[in-house]
Amino acid sequence: MLRIAVLPGDGIGKEVIDVGVDVMNALAEVRPDLKLQYEWLDYGADRYLRDGVGFPDDERNAIAERNDAIFLGAVGDPRVPSNEHARQIILETRFGLDLYVNLRPCKLLDARFCPLKDKGPDDVDFTVFRENTEGLYTGVGGIFKKGTADEVAIQSSINTRKGVERIIRAAYEFADKHGKKRVCMSDKSNALRYGHDVWMRVWKLVAAEYPAIESRHLYVDVLAMELVRHPEDFEVIVTSNLFGDIITDLGAALQGGLGMAASANMNPERGIGMFEPVHGSAPDIAGQDKANPIAAVASTALMLQSLGRTADGAVIEQAIALALAENATTPDLGGNLGTRGVRDFLVDAVRRLGA
Ligand SMILES: NC(=O)c1ccc[n+]([C@@H]2O[C@H](COP(=O)([O-])OP(=O)(O)OC[C@H]3O[C@@H](n4cnc5c(N)ncnc54)[C@H](O)[C@@H]3O)[C@@H](O)[C@H]2O)c1
Repeated sequence: MLRIAVLPGDGIGKEVIDVGVDVMNALAEVRPDLKLQYEWLDYGADRYLRDGVGFPDDERNAIAERNDAIFLGAVGDPRVPSNEHARQIILETRFGLDLYVNLRPCKLLDARFCPLKDKGPDDVDFTVFRENTEGLYTGVGGIFKKGTADEVAIQSSINTRKGVERIIRAAYEFADKHGKKRVCMSDKSNALRYGHDVWMRVWKLVAAEYPAIESRHLYVDVLAMELVRHPEDFEVIVTSNLFGDIITDLGAALQGGLGMAASANMNPERGIGMFEPVHGSAPDIAGQDKANPIAAVASTALMLQSLGRTADGAVIEQAIALALAENATTPDLGGNLGTRGVRDFLVDAVRRLGA
């Protein structure tokens, strides 16, 4: 039995999560050994506006104990301008559960969706390991003399040896396990002489433990350029929180846009992982049956694979590939189906492919 906590969140998060759950259920119908149990969590803007609860302080460990994975839609709603509920949900899960690996596969499934000239699925197939709990996103800092001409704003970047070592090691372990031959570590150690000096030193030590893997280092500005010029040179990339945030959006663009990009937040030692589409709650299209559900559905494939159900994840990936090949997509990918139309296609496809 796989126990999955489902947190749809806000906006299109709810729409795409429903599709993801329907697709997993359709697969479970034809594969009786795939047993799924859901715990639905209603955290999001509606709940926050109703009773002031973003994400309860004492809840995250209990959820992690009751479940094997968390399936998250997206959080963020214009009715909560502070985004306080979203901040709590993200902080309590990613930081609170110490999900230090943000894994983002950037795989182009069809050349039509790549904005690069003459590049196809063989050229864009890399995985980014973004450090998920440190760097510039810890909220350490402050503002002095706010609103005055003498205002000073400080935002500190946290880089611990433990934090840097575990994400770099996770990237090498992934490469080793999945037969990947190349790992690229990207930082800005030429300019960030302290915070990224530790990245450079620790990377050299960890890389030496994996002599069969070709290790490469690129400053992040060069990496951005090389990913556009020669994406085929990359298999696994490991980088810091901020740089990973930016580089993975570049990766999402190479694979066809935000509607295609799946992600996993994991802690290999702890077990529980959180799986989510990369995109946000898209208030501009919410409730209009326009959201592309493929990123959410691809996240379910990632989730099943990480829970040991590799063949089930592969069926869902095949169904997605079929939808793309047959243009059974939403308008952002050039198709003319709505979210529910793509759902129907995928549900039918997994039933046939998974039987
Ligand atoms: N992990 C998360 O929960 C997460 C991530 C990013 C943004 N957000 C939040 O989402 C809200 C909106 O943020 P944003 O507009 O910057 O980013 P967004 O990803 O929600 O939307 C950016 C653009 O892409 C389009 N888009 C996004 N996903 C799509 C999909 N599946 N299908 C078709 N089109 C899609 C949107 O319509 C919009 O034009 C904000 O509150 C933000 O804080 C949440």
